[in-house]
Amino acid sequence: MRKIAVVGTGYVGLVTGSCLADLGNKVICVDNNEEKIAFLKELKMPIYEPGLEEIVKRNVERGRLSFTTDLKKSVPESEVIFIAVGTPPKENGEADLSTVEGVCKDIARSMEGYHLVVEKSTVPVQTGERAKETIRGHVKKGVEFDVASNPEFLREGSAVSDFMKPDRIVIGVETEKAKQILTELYQPLEVPIIVTDIQSAELIKHASNSFLAAKISYINAISKICELTGADIEKVAEGMGMDKRIGYNFLNAGVGYGGFCFPKDLAAFIRICEKLGYNFELLKAVEKINKNQKENFLQKIEDALWNVKGKTIGLLGLSFKPNTDDIRFAPSIDIIKGLLKDGARVKAYDPYAMDKMKDILKDVEYCKDAYEAAESSDALVIITEWSEFKELDLEKIKQLLNNPIIVDGRNIYDLDKMKELGFKYICIGRK
Ligand code: UDX
Repeated sequence: MRKIAVVGTGYVGLVTGSCLADLGNKVICVDNNEEKIAFLKELKMPIYEPGLEEIVKRNVERGRLSFTTDLKKSVPESEVIFIAVGTPPKENGEADLSTVEGVCKDIARSMEGYHLVVEKSTVPVQTGERAKETIRGHVKKGVEFDVASNPEFLREGSAVSDFMKPDRIVIGVETEKAKQILTELYQPLEVPIIVTDIQSAELIKHASNSFLAAKISYINAISKICELTGADIEKVAEGMGMDKRIGYNFLNAGVGYGGFCFPKDLAAFIRICEKLGYNFELLKAVEKINKNQKENFLQKIEDALWNVKGKTIGLLGLSFKPNTDDIRFAPSIDIIKGLLKDGARVKAYDPYAMDKMKDILKDVEYCKDAYEAAESSDALVIITEWSEFKELDLEKIKQLLNNPIIVDGRNIYDLDKMKELGFKYICIGRK
């Protein structure tokens, strides 16, 4: 059992803190957002994440998990301190590390005895070094500490199971002591642990996210070639994925990647490389293809209806992917804005993300279910592949729509079935 503080209660911090408590540690989750901490103290979740609420409740009840805004008090009580605060993008794509720096200073000033400070937020390579210098500059004389990097690879919507059953744990350390603490901490998970220097651990995170984004843009580019040649992207992806060196995962063509990680992390990595004197053209192309994918999809909707001006579009799925209410950098936002700009009326439905979307897109009509979105609409558009959309009564949808047109950005329906039902079914990379 270790005493741990996790600073920052966003997706990464809250999941990390709760799961580490579930592994038997005593964890304090710290955040300077008083409202959020008050909410968590009442066992209410600031984010929708399957399984998280149960873990939080269980561990608070067992006295292993607590929430506070008091960083000063939490530091001396914790041997290991994870930094999981936000690193939002600046105008030029670079990650804003001012909060990380501020937290390092605050931690340093409150440190007594030995502490291990672990960066968990996605930070530019070499941040570990900066964090170490900052802490050294503010810590009391004689206090010992180590800095480590332990990047997180969890996905929203499956964050708890990703934490508990990761493919690997990456630990970047400089000392035997730091290595021992972190390997022991993760030992109960019984998964491979790779121990590296700090810079390599930081780079593993950049390189992995960029590679995954590249995989998506690659398959999206191939989907375009499928459309130009009459090939079927689903078959092409299956045939590629059967090669173990390529693998099936992340070969789903769609409306482009979104979310708070890939767009932000890619822009940050491109900027880091630029500063290091390397022009990472491959990743710039990945970004460009992703942007084009959304524009092409908008064009598909326009083509299906000839003109969208004055037409009503029923739209299913607002979150950037299923099983989350997160709409940050969601492709739906750009697509809806494009439709509204061209004079369409948009009726949207999403199982979880509507409340968040209502705050930023006010000119959309929000519906109680998919059928209401389809009712009297000139076409139905699918942006996010929530399971409930796969189970829709398509006969009913056809009757509700003004025209039997579905434009599907996630290829969720069977082509033959749609033909049989008499739909004009437009999807990605398929005839
Ligand atoms: C991602 C990484 O997967 C995770 O390791 C990292 O810690 C954070 O960033 P996340 O953003 O939660 O996780 O979602 P992910 O499931 O990776 O999907 C990202 C985006 O890519 C979504 O918009 C999704 O729709 C899109 N995507 C994913 C595709 O378009 N096709 C695919 O085949 C896979």
